[in-house]
Amino acid sequence: MDLFRKKPLVAPQGANTDNLSKTLGALDLTTLGVGAIIGTGIFVMTGVAAAEHAGPALVLSFIIAGFACVLSALCYSEFASSIPVSGSAYAYSYVAFGELLAWILGWDLVLEYGVAAAAVSSGWSGYFQGLLEGFGLHLPTVLTGAYNADKGTIVNLPAIVIILLISYLLTRGVKETARFNAIMVVIKLSVVLLFIFTGIFYVKPENWTPFMPFGFHGVVNGAATVFFAYIGFDAISTAAEEVKRPQRDLPIGIISSLAICTVLYIAVSLILTGIVPYQNLNVSDPVSFALRFVDQNMIAGLISVGAIAGMTTVLLVMLFGQTRLLFAISRDGLLPRSLSKVNAKTHTPVRSTWMVGGIVAVLTGFVPLDRLVNLTSIGTLFAFLIVSLGIISLRASNPELKRGFKVPWVPFIPLLSAAACGYLMYNLGSETWIGFMIWLAVGLVIYALYGYRNSKLNNNSK
Ligand code: ALA
Repeated sequence: MDLFRKKPLVAPQGANTDNLSKTLGALDLTTLGVGAIIGTGIFVMTGVAAAEHAGPALVLSFIIAGFACVLSALCYSEFASSIPVSGSAYAYSYVAFGELLAWILGWDLVLEYGVAAAAVSSGWSGYFQGLLEGFGLHLPTVLTGAYNADKGTIVNLPAIVIILLISYLLTRGVKETARFNAIMVVIKLSVVLLFIFTGIFYVKPENWTPFMPFGFHGVVNGAATVFFAYIGFDAISTAAEEVKRPQRDLPIGIISSLAICTVLYIAVSLILTGIVPYQNLNVSDPVSFALRFVDQNMIAGLISVGAIAGMTTVLLVMLFGQTRLLFAISRDGLLPRSLSKVNAKTHTPVRSTWMVGGIVAVLTGFVPLDRLVNLTSIGTLFAFLIVSLGIISLRASNPELKRGFKVPWVPFIPLLSAAACGYLMYNLGSETWIGFMIWLAVGLVIYALYGYRNSKLNNNSK
């Protein structure tokens, strides 16, 4: 029994044979990254993080979470530049650690993308409803949110509808073309800048005191909450097989998209808590709310529209990433082949897209946003942690491998990265941990009953 059989370091079976065209450069990757990163985290989670955890020190929460992400991004960059194949962390660990861990990580990433999509559509729904209200339209309360007896909500209908719409688009073969994505990224960046340059004139420094109403503990809890805002840069590496010069361009794309978002997040969090006393920020559309708070209703409306468009692209990337990942896992034989079946007419994995869409729709309809966010974060942090340790392992096992980008100060930086991710995981609360453990346990059962026997590596060794 070999639970640690590894893929060889050359391209895995099937990769590269399907001849994905190599067209993407560093700028495309940066755009792709920003498109995947800016979404519900900054537009929505900032509100609850400020009101319930960090207060005006929200900016410190963003700096701490950003620090953990930068370290992990360095590690992702080294992997992406030395093993440029689709599948991201799942594929890296198949090479670095062997099959069992690769499966655990792949299963973990299914959680990341699926639950992230549910969380983002829940955030989308908040802004959408805010916009409707601007026109005097109100949905019946029971349809406006996941079940909550106090608020009288039962199901988040707009969130379900947007997930099903996007699933439909994906089955029709609407691909995230670089052009469409670029337009959306420009809109998204414009509304963030619009917020910064309008909001800055309404900042009242007295709103920043007390700076840390919940102490440093609150700041770290806030960091774990807003970590979600950074998720997405890791998705860049899933495009590895379509990049012209992966060794050079992947690290540039990963690190620069993360750098751009970090700077914007720091500015937004400072201004947000400077305009509105933090206690008032616990709303579902805090960034627009802040401008309504100072009677800039027009601009607030524009920001809502931009945020809705921006979150839609994040949704596209996450759902698309999910089907790609399932495709990669089932190509390796660890999940049933039917998941990588492509419809002859539309050239898209129709069945798995609807399966994913259906499950995500149920999650987003009935589970509250904060739970979805925390579950996504714990899954992603776990992947970052394993990728960081993977660098140390790959350096030891394959010292001569050609690396386009190298993490400095190994093993110090990877260890620091793993520790930072572990620390944020620790701060995510027991409920999130229980959910995560159940997910992993289900994954192990599936591997024991199905994946181990049906793995391509198993068939090869016969
Ligand atoms: N970072 C992405 C967002 O905030 C997942 O929506």
